[in-house]
Amino acid sequence: MSSQKRSDRQDKVTTQTVVQMKQQNEKISMLTAYDYTMAGIVDSAGIDVILVGDSASNVMAGFDTTVPMTLDHMIYHTSCVVRGVERALVIADLPFMSYQVTPKEALISAGRMMKEAGAHAVKLEGGKTISKTVKKIVDAGIPVMGHLGLTPQSIYKFGTYKVRAKEEEEAEQLLEDAKKLEKAGVFSIVLEKIPSPLAEKVTAELSIPTIGIGAGPHCDGQVLVTHDMLGLNKDFSPRFLRRYADLHSEMTGAVKQYISDVKESDFPNENERYN
Ligand code: KIV
Repeated sequence: MSSQKRSDRQDKVTTQTVVQMKQQNEKISMLTAYDYTMAGIVDSAGIDVILVGDSASNVMAGFDTTVPMTLDHMIYHTSCVVRGVERALVIADLPFMSYQVTPKEALISAGRMMKEAGAHAVKLEGGKTISKTVKKIVDAGIPVMGHLGLTPQSIYKFGTYKVRAKEEEEAEQLLEDAKKLEKAGVFSIVLEKIPSPLAEKVTAELSIPTIGIGAGPHCDGQVLVTHDMLGLNKDFSPRFLRRYADLHSEMTGAVKQYISDVKESDFPNENERYN
């Protein structure tokens, strides 16, 4: 690893950059954003990768799952994020049913994400069942990130958001899926909510970087939902989440103060009006 961290430099992060970061033993930082303002904050703080996750379905739209998200919704959020970013690599989730039916349909969806939204890469959930699809997208010149372990678009198949691949059979399948995805051409894989030793094994056996969420410290990088790590969501407290701020309390306090100032005719004061 060089003495100057990549996040201190001005050069744009590319898919090649993140692969090199694994080779150079430099951890990759990734956070979500769904809008221009948040993307600008996260980017100027020096994040390496911004994910326009379909978690926008929960965080932005208030749905219980990511299933209702459409390609048009994701294109809208991604285009807002891209306008706010100068340096980070912007990866957009392809939403449920925009890539599962045929590889051709998946390529059309990925192409729209690149052309209409300006994404730099797309992320797809799933293992060997989507490896043909991944290859088709990559062959067309579109970088793809994989996503294994807890794959929220399949929530109705799993039934719960609990830790995945605790049993040997599922763990072996996940490792095989990761290798299939690497062979199909993904430049990186998100590992969500799997045991730390399994994530360590997958990370060691792949030459592309793994990005963990609830997958322990041995992944090549980490991702969190920005709204969760900033403490904007009060009710979501999984074990893997570290809160770096309590913005829910901060914002509630600010709004309460504003209400009080308006009611008491304290706002606007002398300096906050035009005479
Ligand atoms: O949609 C999302 O935010 C994600 C991350 C949790 C990896 O896929």
